[in-house]
Amino acid sequence: MRKKIVAANWKMNLTLAQGEKLVNELLQAGIALDAHKEVVIAVPFPYLITVKELLKGHKGFYVAAQNVAAEKAGAFTGEVNAEMLHSIHTDYVIIGHSERRELFHESNATLAKKMDLALSHGLKPIFCCGEPLDVRKAETQNAFVAKQLEESLFHLSPDQLKHVVVAYEPIWAIGTGLTASAAQAQDMHAFIRKQVAGRYGEAVANDLTILYGGSVKAANATEIFAGADVDGGLVGGASLVAAEFAAIAKAI
Ligand code: G3H
Repeated sequence: MRKKIVAANWKMNLTLAQGEKLVNELLQAGIALDAHKEVVIAVPFPYLITVKELLKGHKGFYVAAQNVAAEKAGAFTGEVNAEMLHSIHTDYVIIGHSERRELFHESNATLAKKMDLALSHGLKPIFCCGEPLDVRKAETQNAFVAKQLEESLFHLSPDQLKHVVVAYEPIWAIGTGLTASAAQAQDMHAFIRKQVAGRYGEAVANDLTILYGGSVKAANATEIFAGADVDGGLVGGASLVAAEFAAIAKAI
């Protein structure tokens, strides 16, 4: 049985005090989790230790970094490497978010390096993929996403892939209020799973958790998560409000 996950991505929002308050509210919101259902909270680097501490003893809650360096260590001012994240007990790391790809020019090749470093230091990557609007309009989104998977993911061994979560985030749906329809999300998730099956076999593909991201909110979560290949969500804006995010988490 593959894992269902609802992940919060706070992006560059909230002070530490606001973040602590939000986490405490979530912990008291009655979200029932188990070995197959997780909530992951991706916070800014300076909050990782505090949030990890707050989540201690709360089954099914995990902390994530929003990025990791593509280099091992050394003279890279301002960067945070995988070993550092592991040393403070970070569970997951988001890799390849479209904001990193677009604003910080991260290429598929760079992301492949990040995947290797994260996995070799015991971090579980949440690997993001997804097409911009012009690609969707040209109806070439499948080829676009297939290339992202091919160039950043498919060099991994089957054993490594078991520790990876994929998040499909159509760029045109991020922070825009536009969501992919449940059918569009399901179609792409099924396509991703098929690509993974082609490379790694059905068993590995069936175990892969694939999240949808892009304007998920309490009002649309149940419909989107109903897709057979949709195993939860990566939530931006709506993750900043405890009641809203808790309702989304309860929809998995
Ligand atoms: O990482 C989350 C995604 O970028 C979605 O953000 O829920 O604000 O559209 P959003």
